[in-house]
Amino acid sequence: MQKLLIKGKKVLSGTISISGSKNATLPILAASILNDKKTTLKNIPLVKDVFTMIELLSFIGLKTKLHKGKNILEISKKNKKIITVAPYRIVKTMRAGVLVLGPLIAKYKKAKVSLPGGCAIGTRPVDLHLFALKKLGAKILIKEGYIYASAKDGLVGCKIKFPSISVGATENAIIAASQAKGKTILYNCALEPEIENLIVFLKKMGCKISIKKGRKIIINGTFKTSQVSQKIMFDRIELGTYLIAAALMGKKISFSNVIPKIINTEIKVLKSMGVKIKSQNKKIIVYKSLDIKSAKIKTKPYPGFPTDLQAQIMVLMSKAKGYSSIEENIFENRFMHVPELKRMGAKISTKNNIAQILGPTKLSGAEVMATDLRASVCLVLAGLIADNRTVINRIYHLDRGYENLEKKLKTCGAKITRI
Ligand code: EPZ
Repeated sequence: MQKLLIKGKKVLSGTISISGSKNATLPILAASILNDKKTTLKNIPLVKDVFTMIELLSFIGLKTKLHKGKNILEISKKNKKIITVAPYRIVKTMRAGVLVLGPLIAKYKKAKVSLPGGCAIGTRPVDLHLFALKKLGAKILIKEGYIYASAKDGLVGCKIKFPSISVGATENAIIAASQAKGKTILYNCALEPEIENLIVFLKKMGCKISIKKGRKIIINGTFKTSQVSQKIMFDRIELGTYLIAAALMGKKISFSNVIPKIINTEIKVLKSMGVKIKSQNKKIIVYKSLDIKSAKIKTKPYPGFPTDLQAQIMVLMSKAKGYSSIEENIFENRFMHVPELKRMGAKISTKNNIAQILGPTKLSGAEVMATDLRASVCLVLAGLIADNRTVINRIYHLDRGYENLEKKLKTCGAKITRI
């Protein structure tokens, strides 16, 4: 098992390039199942979850060609038979595998998709995905850990009101409805930027989709698909992670080819905490920030503060003067990083879904263990500010969603090595 060694207290400066978004890439890869013509995706992040989804598409029978050096992926149909199955051995490490359910049932009228296992942050149910597909006419059966779905006459558009907001269920429903007969109106949708990126992709393929105010999306199904070429949007969670790294140990760090308004909420929170951050059209610069102030944060669906930055901001709060708090409203068990941060000296107490952080506290390096993607990167951030050396185990979690993390931090002066 690989580990990361970090020697803390190194001042960082320079430029960090932000990769394409994992959470925009995964639903677009699933949606490429619908395309009879060629799909070309640029700015693909070379991370484990994307390789897993590419493996799944190849298993299903699509031809995939990854030009690693240029982060370009080409997907096309070959005259091989399509296997409408997403096997457990592939899906078990990546819950987003369930996103192939919508396109498979919409295009091939049947699918057998492994139920995603739970993970460190929660049980990860898919009831909202199945609720939407059933409304579109799919027959669903759960048996032996698999979802068996069928729609022998194809899917039919309808009105669907989500009981609660779900990114994945919204994506599955949009992809399925884009090849259903007639019109579908989705209510109470998630509106993450990655969903907008998926809609841009589907519209290029020939679907008619419009986002209305009040979390409403209208889809007019179509069966004719055209060749699509799309650049994946930047990863706003990776950007947020490095903005916090810059706030922790930066002298001056620049980020280019990003869209600051997409992370407006995060920038406002960082500024309220005293982080010196300047943003203009496609660039953001973070300067040395000394007296960090406390904050009270509640995670919410976009455009609220993202749950995927909750662990990371907690490290910054450990440097802030006084009591900060975080209310985690999206996942039921997303404080797994807290015990590890406490082993490094952080003063954090949790009660139900609320964590209270007292600062400023000095963190000291320790041997720690990553439990999920964002918890592992929060330990990297803690290692950057801790005295002496931090060793992070189980860093395969990191590799699921951060491209070239050590290289990006090393170029800014961090002492970080993988062993
Ligand atoms: C997406 O997960 C992201 N993953 C997650 O990022 C992100 O944390 C999450 O959205 C919230 O923003 C990808 O985009 C690949 P949800 P998803 O459905 O779609 C419950 C990362 O670190 N729920 O919006 O699974 C669910 O348990 C990952 O990159 C149901 O109850 O999230 C959760 O409590 C982690 N039934 C809440 O809704 C369902 O059918 C929000 O989940 C689906 C979800």
